[in-house]
Amino acid sequence: MRKKLGRALGFCGVLACAASLAPAQSKPIPQLVKQGDKFTFMVDGKPFIMLGGQVGNFTGFPDRMESAWPAFKAMNLNTVEYPVYWNVIEPVEGKFDFSGFDQILRGLRAQGLRAVILWFGTWKNGAMDWTPNWVKADPKRFPRVLDSGGKPIRVLSPMSRTNLEADKKAYSAMMTHLRQIDEADRTVIMVQVENEPGSLGSVRDFSPESNKLFNGPAPAKLAAGLKKKPGTWKEAFGREADEAFNAYYLSSYINEVAQAGKQIYPLPTYVNVWNGGYGTNDNWERFDRPGESYPSGGAVAHMLDLWKANAPAIDAIASDIYHQSPITYLKILNSYRRPDNPLLIVETGSGIAGRAFFYAMADFAGIGFAPFGIDGGGANPRPDMAAVAADFRLFKTAIPVIAGLQGTPRLKAAVEETGIGARNLIFSDYDVLVRFHPRGRQPAGALGQTAAAGAPEPSARVMIAELSADEFLVMGFESSVEWRPVQGSDYTAAQFSEVEEGYYENGAWKTTVLGTTSQGDYTGPMVNLSAQGALMRVKLMKY
Ligand code: DGJ
Repeated sequence: MRKKLGRALGFCGVLACAASLAPAQSKPIPQLVKQGDKFTFMVDGKPFIMLGGQVGNFTGFPDRMESAWPAFKAMNLNTVEYPVYWNVIEPVEGKFDFSGFDQILRGLRAQGLRAVILWFGTWKNGAMDWTPNWVKADPKRFPRVLDSGGKPIRVLSPMSRTNLEADKKAYSAMMTHLRQIDEADRTVIMVQVENEPGSLGSVRDFSPESNKLFNGPAPAKLAAGLKKKPGTWKEAFGREADEAFNAYYLSSYINEVAQAGKQIYPLPTYVNVWNGGYGTNDNWERFDRPGESYPSGGAVAHMLDLWKANAPAIDAIASDIYHQSPITYLKILNSYRRPDNPLLIVETGSGIAGRAFFYAMADFAGIGFAPFGIDGGGANPRPDMAAVAADFRLFKTAIPVIAGLQGTPRLKAAVEETGIGARNLIFSDYDVLVRFHPRGRQPAGALGQTAAAGAPEPSARVMIAELSADEFLVMGFESSVEWRPVQGSDYTAAQFSEVEEGYYENGAWKTTVLGTTSQGDYTGPMVNLSAQGALMRVKLMKY
């Protein structure tokens, strides 16, 4: 009763105040729902897959964002990821300015786009560049990491309570404000807490207090949970001891920031990762070591168990993938899609991205995919991102269908790679042969061929969803797809009963054209997907 009265009269603390501002008819809050080993990202109460793009680091200002609206549209995005800078929203300690924040949000909402905000707080790419000047100017109050020689570096220490409290206060103010202005619309669907956190320039803080903790025991609960032998950090974590120590304090710090935000407005949260270690290094010319080739303490693949155990307020750990090698790309997808972690690619480069999207969605149940720097062409879409824009165009209307089949054997991708000119996929009643036919060149796997010097990289890609035993949704580019009754069945051949190109509208299939099939000069039912790409629905009969 007292609580009700307090709300009605507006007497409340920060948390209750925010709650009292909830409009009567809010849309359901976005959330990550887990069933079995599968995560579904629910937005407006429906399965959603983020077809995203991240703007450049300096674009999180209203005028720059607004000049990129046409590029966002041309990229077929449904979500834009953009930074919110601590030094911009709290230029003077305790005085917050959300004018630019509001303008951007209103604009994105008017464009019919969803948003992911990137909190550039204590950490941005393993440094402290977007902290306010009143933080930078006062290293006594806001201590920095000391390197092994005792010198301060351009990174705030994760060991400092003052640093944590200052960040938490600003982040909480942002979440309080966000709830107030966005709860009815839910334009913002997820929040990235910090950016590529970690320390670049030192594996950990070597301050006397930090050294004392490092030489003491590793927390027994942590060591037991990670199946490490109890003892000092060195005894428990061996060669990774300094990095694990840093990861423990970083993940505790970020978890506390995220938790404070969730108490105000419980949107899904994630932390993004600058890869490194054990063959995932982005900086080839350097020794692949924490603090050298990548920021130490981030949730790199070999620190993922620790982060998952120690940061429960972070819903997803999202790797930024700039690698162009499919071997490394797939290795990272494999590491980050786990029963306790949904696959979310919040930053990726161009090049392989057009193909990687197919792997991520079909084979790793990805809940989102976003190339970085989408506003790099100003109002124009970047030509090197045309493949991703085309992927998103085909995929966009089929999201509910695909989201329902992700994580099952009824959704699969066939992607051209150097040395691979065709792929066989196996479904319940049919074996499917996808042959790659890149326009104007041999497929990258043609027998006996070596790629000509300067040959364009592989580009053919197909995704196939088994809608029912005899019905398939096919989307892709530069390929042919042929069906046969599954090996070992009583049937010897198959034929089409329907082939249509089209799209979905509110969940219902709309045919645009009757699809193109071969004219009788084939051994089985086959569709061709051009370089422009197509979304097709086919029905078959076996005989
Ligand atoms: C990764 C960072 O997270 C981004 O903010 C951006 O700096 C890119 N690197 C640039 O490649």
